[in-house]
Amino acid sequence: MNKIVNNLKISYNDEGPDGAPVIVFIHGFPLNKSMWNKQVEALKVNYHVIAYDIRGHGNSDIGEEDFTIDLFVNDLLHLMSALKIEKAILCGLSMGGYIALNAIENFPERFEALILSDTNCIADSPEAKEKRMSAIENIKNNGVEKYAVESMKNLFAPESFKSKKEEIDAAWEMIVKTSTQSLYNTLHALSERKETCNKLSQIKVPVLIMVGSEDSITPPASASLMHEKIKGSFMQIIDHAGHLSNMENPVGFNDQLKKFVDSVCDKQLNNIHKINNQSEENLALNQESFKFQSGNQPDLNGQNQGKGYSDMDAAADLNAKILKITMTIMDQYPELSKYLEEMPVTIPNKKNPDITLNNLKTYYESLSLMLNKYKSEHPAIGI
Ligand code: MLT
Repeated sequence: MNKIVNNLKISYNDEGPDGAPVIVFIHGFPLNKSMWNKQVEALKVNYHVIAYDIRGHGNSDIGEEDFTIDLFVNDLLHLMSALKIEKAILCGLSMGGYIALNAIENFPERFEALILSDTNCIADSPEAKEKRMSAIENIKNNGVEKYAVESMKNLFAPESFKSKKEEIDAAWEMIVKTSTQSLYNTLHALSERKETCNKLSQIKVPVLIMVGSEDSITPPASASLMHEKIKGSFMQIIDHAGHLSNMENPVGFNDQLKKFVDSVCDKQLNNIHKINNQSEENLALNQESFKFQSGNQPDLNGQNQGKGYSDMDAAADLNAKILKITMTIMDQYPELSKYLEEMPVTIPNKKNPDITLNNLKTYYESLSLMLNKYKSEHPAIGI
């Protein structure tokens, strides 16, 4: 499908039921939306899934403007608006992750959760910039195929060249089909991108970070750095994979991806996250009910949270803790999943105006208690 966005044609796949939670996939460089085929296939049953070609890639037009990550973010926001998507879960790999990080930094209200795959938050070093400029020269002098041969060596883990023939061929096709002008423009945009590490602590939505165990472009250390900075984030290393972890190990990747989005979109958890996004009608009620007498505020982990720790921060902390425990249950103790349904109502409304952070705290505590009790009664099952 195509849509005219910012005066140019953007090509995208749109799958899954209308009204389901939306997941937008953003591809890496120099690839296109088809790198997400296996994720789209796996998620379209329960989710409204969009995978689009960044301008100049796949079947999207290149346009006239100089490429920048800001421009790519602008395209993303316009595409979402054109598709009437108010809020989405974003999943970006590498360059897609750079775009996702920039997008959430500047438009946090448009995103529900984030999956950062094989990416990083740092800007290019002078050496990295130099390499990008030499790549442009090489393409000019030796053609795109020579460039594709070199890129492929970095994109895939060595074992994938033997075991993932189909994916290797698909990635090759994607690279050689990208126009040289788009390669030049994108290499420039990547080299000029700004770091996003300093803003990671401000991310308030659930985040899953994934990285191929043998990713040599954005290695597990880059993922760990982001994981440390994003409070409450989850990190998973995908085995048997290099930089293109979703293509090299789709089973492992999809398994983590599904668990994460299922947890985020779980009906009850969704309620909790809405606290950070209250409607006009509920805002006043929430503000009222979030007012704590001093000494009445939840003391998370028994720590003194100190000055400047707002009720919204406390809600975000509790959300992260509840999400973590929910994922543990879904992952390791599925027999307890039925108890997740027993979430109390957590959004104040006219009928239930008395809901406070304490409700979140109570829910978190009852989940922990239930899990700990179960673990102690079933020591053989515990991991
Ligand atoms: C990508 O996969 O998008 C690229 O490796 C990103 C980069 O070169 O920085």
